[in-house]
Amino acid sequence: MRKPQLTRAEGLPERVTIYEVGARDGLQNEDAIVDVAVKAEFVRRLVDAGLTTIETTSFVHPKWVPQLADAAELLTALDLPSGVRAPVLVPNERGLDRALAAGVREIAIFASATETFARKNLNSTLDEQFAMFTPTVERALDAGLAVRGYVSMCYGDPWEGDVPVEQVVQVTARLAELGCHELSLGDTIGVATPGQVIDLIGALGQAGVGVDRLAVHFHDTYGQALANTLTALREGVTTVDSSAGGLGGCPYAESATGNLATEDLVWQLDGLGIRTGVDLEKLVTTSTWMSTHLGKPSPSRVVQALAG
Ligand code: HMG
Ligand code: MG
Repeated sequence: MRKPQLTRAEGLPERVTIYEVGARDGLQNEDAIVDVAVKAEFVRRLVDAGLTTIETTSFVHPKWVPQLADAAELLTALDLPSGVRAPVLVPNERGLDRALAAGVREIAIFASATETFARKNLNSTLDEQFAMFTPTVERALDAGLAVRGYVSMCYGDPWEGDVPVEQVVQVTARLAELGCHELSLGDTIGVATPGQVIDLIGALGQAGVGVDRLAVHFHDTYGQALANTLTALREGVTTVDSSAGGLGGCPYAESATGNLATEDLVWQLDGLGIRTGVDLEKLVTTSTWMSTHLGKPSPSRVVQALAG
């Protein structure tokens, strides 16, 4: 399989942690409900391709996201090797109870930077979402779990338009204060451009949320995800969310398409000599296999170029 020609560039990290979200952010948005055995095989193949942080599913209300209603069943079906982290999405205490019963060690809560999306995604106001998260995170930390915090609509909202940087900083700082070890900055509808990324990371630094705690989460709706990611790496970020094959979207955000494809990210990082531990060939084979289950081609440009 073709490989990119290696040429290093200044000002970039030596290693990047890929936080793989295909099984969760990807499959939550598919019309088809994928069989639990296929999901388990997908995760097993992702592990075999070298991914070590794999968000597997969500313990949200099954009526809200029926695609992931089999969360507990999936976790029972998985037998992950030690060294693989398998966080799950949890919105509230009920979700935490279900995650704890399934033996989860790591969760991610997900906040909105805007009022409208808090209402649509969590049935809450901006403040109410924190009333939901505070006891959830306290109990999770007491139980020894690691907690990641997502912030959605960081760079634009389909209903509200522009989102002020200060509003994103406030929400992110509140999640940091609650005890989230990592904050993932979500471009939920894929509208960000690199200047915004530089501005937000800078403003968070000023507010005391250092770049070592940040991850970036770009959707690729406007084709900006790789440019935004490279910009974030230059700003010092070393954890990048992406989804195998570019699967994904958010069922409660209009016009959101898939995440940055993991293959597109790995092609760029391999070319720059930045280590990820991922075997691109195995990953492309996995996404091609998954696309036959979903009955549609992968939107990833690298999968399209390399498959077949
Ligand atoms: P609600 O209807 O307000 O819930 O939904 P409630 O607290 O009023 O409870 C109503 C009933 O639901 C109760 O049952 C609860 O027990 C039950 P009843 O007493 O009536 O029998 N319930 C639950 N059952 C199972 N699991 C639970 C749960 N919670 C309550 N966890 C809620 C509020 C937060 C639950 C709902 O809005 C929800 O599930 N939202 C999730 C939406 C979602 O998953 N969106 C996609 C993920 S976010 C995303 O993709 C963005 C991201 O990728 C980053 C980016 O791109 O920006 C992360
Ligand atoms: Mg997302």
